[in-house]
Amino acid sequence: MNDLQLIILCGGNSSEREVSLSTGKAIYDCLKASLNVELLQYENNIEDYILQLKQADLVFIALHGGEGENGEIQSLFEKNGIKYTGSDSKSSALAMDKNATKIIGEKLNISTPNWLMFNKNDNIEKLMIDIIQLGFPIVIKPSNEGSTVGLSIVKSENKCEQAFNLALQYSDEIMVEAFIPGRELTVGVLGDACLPIVEIIPKHDLYDYDCKYKTGMSEYICPAEIDNVLAEKMQKDALKLHKGLSCRHYSRVDYRLNERSEYYMLEINTLPGMTSTSLIPKAGKANNISFEEFLKKIIRLAI
Ligand SMILES: Nc1ncnc2c1ncn2[C@@H]1O[C@H](COP(=O)(O)OP(=O)(O)O)[C@@H](O)[C@H]1O
Ligand SMILES: [Mg+2]
Repeated sequence: MNDLQLIILCGGNSSEREVSLSTGKAIYDCLKASLNVELLQYENNIEDYILQLKQADLVFIALHGGEGENGEIQSLFEKNGIKYTGSDSKSSALAMDKNATKIIGEKLNISTPNWLMFNKNDNIEKLMIDIIQLGFPIVIKPSNEGSTVGLSIVKSENKCEQAFNLALQYSDEIMVEAFIPGRELTVGVLGDACLPIVEIIPKHDLYDYDCKYKTGMSEYICPAEIDNVLAEKMQKDALKLHKGLSCRHYSRVDYRLNERSEYYMLEINTLPGMTSTSLIPKAGKANNISFEEFLKKIIRLAI
């Protein structure tokens, strides 16, 4: 591995560009002393960088959201024979689509909040009948975004339209999901094993953009203080979902847990945040895996 030529690809054009720049830098800083690494911050057209990327033995994809996470870049790399870390184009596309993920999750008997899908052409008054059946509060969110952008918790009918319009700024496909009160938990998958569960206690009601990325805006407890049997079930389901979507190398499954100890899968992230303070490396640490070991394990799995 020591003579491997590695390019860490970050930046991009999605709404999560800034997060990706942090992920890229954290990975670069961690690996530069022991491996032959280059940090590539791209913007605009990824095709302009293909010749450069082809020079590498492996591209560590440190992108979040948009074409970097939805399979487009993965597909381009596959066509160009470029080896890369993380899930392939097909799995990435499925995981980025929260609706597709939930459909697969249900088939695998993984509980997920009840939901409805709408798009920009739907008539909101007609939709209201279905929404009322779901019951308030609800969550309205774009079906294929990340970092809690465009997401609202809606407590009454008269706030729906505003929430729809916000979500529509980010996607044509909108998800309306039953709100699950309770705790926020996440499970990292590395290789074919799960990491200890992390509980997130955000300062805001919602685990929003600021709570995700600003220091001190969330408290993290790992391993989460939950019943062992429950923890094992959640980990088993996370791995089942990871495998069910044919994900590779690593991923992270987000859950909500209510007061009756019922858990609900929200989504799977194929390119979770990877700064040294992000959730997955935290979970690694609780298992005595350093950030460096964690990254090297991903690299070994990819080559
Ligand atoms: N159905 C829900 N019930 C309760 N909280 C939710 C629900 N959906 C989303 N949230 C909150 O919003 C956050 C972001 O939602 P998520 O579906 O994970 O999308 P993303 O992380 O891709 O933006 C979650 O971590 C959670 O705090
Ligand atoms: Mg999430």
